Amino acid sequence: MSKKKIGEVILDVRNISLRFGGVNALTDISFNVREHEIRAIIGPNGAGKSSMLNCINGVYTPSEGSITFRGQTFSHMNSRQVAEMGVARTFQNLALFKGMSVIDNLMAGRNLKIKSNLFLQALRIGPAAREEVQHRAFVERIIDFLEIQAYRKTPVGQLPYGLQKRVDLGRALAMEPQVLLLDEPMAGMNVEEKQDMCRFILDVNDEFGTTIVLIEHDMGVVMDISDRVVVLDYGKKIGDGTPDEVRNNEEVIRAYLGTGH
Ligand SMILES: Nc1ncnc2c1ncn2[C@@H]1O[C@H](COP(=O)(O)OP(=O)(O)OP(=O)(O)O)[C@@H](O)[C@H]1O
Ligand SMILES: [Mg+2]
Repeated sequence: MSKKKIGEVILDVRNISLRFGGVNALTDISFNVREHEIRAIIGPNGAGKSSMLNCINGVYTPSEGSITFRGQTFSHMNSRQVAEMGVARTFQNLALFKGMSVIDNLMAGRNLKIKSNLFLQALRIGPAAREEVQHRAFVERIIDFLEIQAYRKTPVGQLPYGLQKRVDLGRALAMEPQVLLLDEPMAGMNVEEKQDMCRFILDVNDEFGTTIVLIEHDMGVVMDISDRVVVLDYGKKIGDGTPDEVRNNEEVIRAYLGTGH
């Protein structure tokens, strides 16, 4: 692991419960995430991992509990407000505009940062023109960083799946987030694509200092790159600690690690 310095708690999840009708998707979940950390969330299918991310970024409103981000506590906030506070995410099922080019998808991700009004933007005059130039420059930096220069103008739908996932990461990075939530960024990838994605996640964490919350089923990856791991099972937290602590936790082995993952 790098010699990076883990900071203060940036995200604090307290006593979160979430119900869908009769299903308790999450029950009294608490954990925190420290600045610059890579924090993994693991657990069997249906454990509540995606639901947890959806609570953090305002897609779902928890039935109980609160979330504190950089000292600001909220229980009801919509995804745009959460995004404006500096939390971005990628989705288990890609959320890209398939017919649009890579660069336009990244510009769409950047939209949150664009301040001038739509009328000036449409005319491309005055401050809007200058702003657009700056935003394009930033997006080009992300494209270089993710090594997707060759596909800048390619419609996303024509790219192989592994590259689409990389573009989705780029779309989230275009928001310049402080915290990046990644929902199974390596699912469905071959070994080489996984290695690339792992390297990009580590580089984002290292070079941009971005804090990362990562849902991942590949235990090799989780044990390799995360600083601390939360384990969920049937909506409950059954483990929380360093990869070594979690790996040796009896309950975690019984519920998850023993099942061939
Ligand atoms: N919108 C929804 N409406 C009803 N039930 C839901 C909804 N979203 C999730 N659930 C239920 O909540 C529970 C947790 O689901 P969730 O998708 O969070 O699990 P997960 O850990 O991400 O699973 P996977 O590894 O398969 O992605 C499951 O029982 C699921 O069926
Ligand atoms: Mg999920």
